[in-house]
Amino acid sequence: MPNLIDGRAIAQRVYADLRRGIAELKSKGLMPGLAVILVGDNPASRAYVRSKDKMCRDLGLHSVKLELPGSTTQTELLARVEELNRDPSIHGILVQSPQPKQIDEAGIVRSLDPRKDVDGFHPANVAKLVIDDPSGFVSCTPLGVQRLLIESKIDIAGAHVVILGRSMIVGKPLALLLMQKNKNGNATVTVVHSRSRDLEKITQSADILIAAIGQPNFVKADHVRDGAVVIDVGINRVEDAVSEHGYRLVGDVAFDEVSRKANAITPVPGGVGPMTIAMLMSNTVKAARQWLSPT
Ligand code: GUN
Repeated sequence: MPNLIDGRAIAQRVYADLRRGIAELKSKGLMPGLAVILVGDNPASRAYVRSKDKMCRDLGLHSVKLELPGSTTQTELLARVEELNRDPSIHGILVQSPQPKQIDEAGIVRSLDPRKDVDGFHPANVAKLVIDDPSGFVSCTPLGVQRLLIESKIDIAGAHVVILGRSMIVGKPLALLLMQKNKNGNATVTVVHSRSRDLEKITQSADILIAAIGQPNFVKADHVRDGAVVIDVGINRVEDAVSEHGYRLVGDVAFDEVSRKANAITPVPGGVGPMTIAMLMSNTVKAARQWLSPT
């Protein structure tokens, strides 16, 4: 059996560090605050927002959850973001994706104060990632993947990392993060996507294969080299009549067959998912700290 990379256990280590950081900020009179905006009633988004709010409360952070109707207009949403930009009790703002059709997501992201953009989606933060400026915010899932690799003592430097998927939320920022010239980077990164030729040949050459394409069980044993590390970012709901909710969660990796070849692998759930929330909390604490002493 391969090593199972336990995201829940690693997230707990992150929280232990964060609790110390939060106590220190509170001793200076600062309570970090996160606002999460949910527009509409996408069930998966609702579940994510609920767990983010719960985690804030567990850590003793100030948490604001704004649930807006699916009919909310761009102008209304911009006004809510603007209020939060000005609110001194809020250090991080996240607008949950996907948003309804009438919303121009890029416009909303640009309206965020980049110092409160704990999602790392604002162009100013994307630019900071490109130029290796550590004062910027990096998207939470890529940060979580990097932290999983570090905590699992998997060598990133010099490794060939193949990322399946080129999204703004995961694939692109993760590629930039792992190729950064620093001790937690220095990987040789290849990004493959739906239009890549010879996809299987490329994934087979990966030391570390990261699947983030949003297609259940896409990665099969034939995609993976013996002894590779496999990180599954996918969280897909598939129908399952015998489960309590009528669905179950599966990743982008066909776990059973791939785990026979991999040296280490993340499960779904319990792999990358818990780390994403942990990194959101970490970015919120970082935002509060930077508010106290701007860089
Ligand atoms: N939806 C799925 N993942 C994310 C994320 O990291 N941030 C936001 N805002 N929405 C998401």
